[in-house]
Amino acid sequence: MAKESTYTAKLPQPDGTYPYTQEEDAIWGELYQRQMTLLQGKACQEYLDGVEALGLTSDRVPQLKDVNRRLHETTGFGVEGVPALIPPSRFYDLLSQGKFPLATFIRRREHIDYIEEPDIFHEVFGHCPLLTNQSYANFVRRFGETAVKLGKGYSWHLFRIFWFTVEFGLINTPQGRRCFGAGIVSSPSETRTAMEPSESEFRPFNLMDVLRTPYRIDIVQPIYYVIDSFAQLEAIIEEDIGARIDEAKTLGDYPPAFERKAS
Ligand SMILES: [Fe+2]
Repeated sequence: MAKESTYTAKLPQPDGTYPYTQEEDAIWGELYQRQMTLLQGKACQEYLDGVEALGLTSDRVPQLKDVNRRLHETTGFGVEGVPALIPPSRFYDLLSQGKFPLATFIRRREHIDYIEEPDIFHEVFGHCPLLTNQSYANFVRRFGETAVKLGKGYSWHLFRIFWFTVEFGLINTPQGRRCFGAGIVSSPSETRTAMEPSESEFRPFNLMDVLRTPYRIDIVQPIYYVIDSFAQLEAIIEEDIGARIDEAKTLGDYPPAFERKAS
């Protein structure tokens, strides 16, 4: 995306810690408490267990090196601090190495309800808890490897897999449908749209459907895909994704379930 961020990357001190102000810790605390309350009975258990395994609290912005250590101990995954926006090639490359790229700045109060670009709340609270789940972590790493192998011509379609799972995925559980996508669990409006009665459509996850479904990043999602297990995700990414994308390109996109963005 050509858009410039109004945020700048926060850089670590020589000892590897990132400095956050009291106001930034307070913003984290507010976001954390609001979402933890909202997510009870809505987020899947694997996600909630992950929040605990990472030792996240409302007291302060977590330190990247602590998150990194805890992930290493659970699934061998890791995190790496990056600027607010990075090119897709770097993003995929890091995932293929089992490192989740983390923007380390936190949103200002004016963006407390919605921020288009990912900040550390989205990254750590949204993405990192499930990286403590081995099937999910394997899926994310394999996704990165597949993206690196297939190269640029497949990137657009590949990202749809990521979008409808890692960012906006839902999962069927014995207790009912639960959310796990980082874009849902880190945003109150998305949590409500995905988990309370709404106009949105919920479809069973099907790789070909996902590859043919356009999305917009700047609206609440009109379509969600629902998986049955994280093992299902792990199996899907072992398919011949290049061949499936070629097939999706031949079949063409589904008509978008949203208005085209004026540009
Ligand atoms: Fe994200």
